[in-house]
This record gives sequence, C-alpha cells and structure tokens, in this order.
Amino acid sequence: MCAEVLAFIGGTGPEGLGLAARFAAAGHPIVIGSRRPERAQEAVEKIKARVAGAEAAGVVNQEAVERGDIVFVTIPFAGHRDTLAALAGAIGAKMVVDVVSPLSFEGGKITAVAVPEGSAAQQSQALLPRAQVVAGFHHLDASDLMKVERPMNSDVVVCSDHPEAKAKVMALAEEIAGVRALDGGGLANSRYLEEFTALLLNLNKTYKAHTGLKIAGIGDTLPK
Ligand SMILES: NC(=O)c1ccc[n+]([C@@H]2O[C@H](COP(=O)([O-])OP(=O)(O)OC[C@H]3O[C@@H](n4cnc5c(N)ncnc54)[C@H](OP(=O)(O)O)[C@@H]3O)[C@@H](O)[C@H]2O)c1
Repeated sequence: MCAEVLAFIGGTGPEGLGLAARFAAAGHPIVIGSRRPERAQEAVEKIKARVAGAEAAGVVNQEAVERGDIVFVTIPFAGHRDTLAALAGAIGAKMVVDVVSPLSFEGGKITAVAVPEGSAAQQSQALLPRAQVVAGFHHLDASDLMKVERPMNSDVVVCSDHPEAKAKVMALAEEIAGVRALDGGGLANSRYLEEFTALLLNLNKTYKAHTGLKIAGIGDTLPK
C-alpha cells in the first residue's frame, strides 16, 4: 500500500518542519506549504539535509492542500481562521490534523487564549464542515522533532468526532519513534490539549527543558 501524502499548511515553521521531517523519515511523501513558494523550497532543502532520500516538495499552501491526502495545520493561531477559510474549498472532505495551540506571549507571559468555538480544532471543524478534523501532536517539541535520529519521548493524545480519521492519525503518530498515541475522545476535548501546551511552555522556561507529555496508568505495570 502507498504511504499517504502529507501536506503541511505553514510547514516552513519549526513545528511543521519537524513533523514533516519525521514523517519523511517514516517513508511518507511530504508537501510543504507556505504563503511564499521560495520559503517552502528552503524548508524542503532542510528536510532533505536531515532525511536521506526524503520525497518532499515545496509549494504555496493551496497547492500543498490539493496534493495532500492528509492536511496538517501548523500555523500560529493568529492566522488560523483566515487561512483555513481561504483554503476551505481545496480542503473539501479531506482529513485535517490541527496542531495549533492558541497562545499569547504578551509581556513575556505564556497563556492560553480563549477561542469562541471552544478550541482551534473546533474552529477548523466549523470552517471546514465537510473535513474530518483531528486534533493532535500539540506536545511534541519542534526542536526535538528535528533531531530525526533520536526517538521522541512523549504521548500524542488525539481528539476527533470522526472515529476512522482518529484511528488513522493515531497510527500515523506511532510511526514517529518514541511516540505512543492515546485516544482523547471527541473534538470538544481538544481545548484541554491546546491549553495544556501553555503549561508545558512555562515548564520549559522554568527548567530550561524540552518537555513532552506522558500519561501514567494506561498499560503501565503498576506496583502492587
Ligand atoms: N514550536 C513548537 O514547539 C510547537 C509544538 C507544538 C505545537 N505547536 C503549534 O504549531 C503551530 C506552528 O508552530 P511554529 O512554532 O512552527 O509556528 P511559526 O513558526 O510561528 O509559524 C509557522 C508558519 O506559519 C506561517 N504563518 C505565520 N503567520 C501566519 C499567518 N498570520 N497566516 C498564515 N500563515 C502564517 C509561516 O509560514 P510562511 O511565512 O512560510 O507562510 C510560518 O513559517 C502553532 O500553532 C503552535 O501552537 C508548536
């Protein structure tokens, strides 16, 4: 079976680039999207420098979406609504993986931003009613993702109202070495994933660390 083509809206930033590099290493053709094709092309060169034999192309976001079987949203929340509204026609009924955490960095404080729809992922589903929106990958640190030769050390909790799409994205997550995928329930739960990112970034600041997320009590051998 052919590996799905994965497209990244805003794949030029550290998070999209890191996920794309990991999935290229797992054998997926990658399409990096950008508002500017030359930036997308630079991102492709970075992936090819890290992943020997990577199959990757760099194009504008609209073309990336058209070429992808599964579309990742890896842009800042500030551009979320307008970008997805403009791409809604091209996205149609595709599977969309929303990685966005709506955060504020004002005054050096990292806080979660309230979203009228409940979460960024729910905003995606409202803007893209035919798409199968899945929320996930919020807690994988971008700089760790780029170290493709090292396994990650994190769970990826995935939320969606589309069970088949959720199962597909959970399987995809586990193609990244060191990732365990967990079913986080319906898309309404995505707000907890998105907001939790603010806490992890605060911990990163305090401990000068690259934190991830590990849920205890599922499949563990607990002391009697
Ligand atoms: N960084 C992390 O460790 C991390 C971890 C987990 C989740 N996330 C989430 O992943 C998303 C991307 O994070 P990032 O650090 O990669 O972000 P970023 O570097 O700030 O942005 C990613 C890309 O989005 C595009 N972009 C920027 N502003 C935009 C706008 N107003 N409208 C449309 N496109 C815009 C830019 O691409 P072009 O200029 O090429 O179009 C940029 O390279 C965020 O929502 C973040 O919450 C990040």
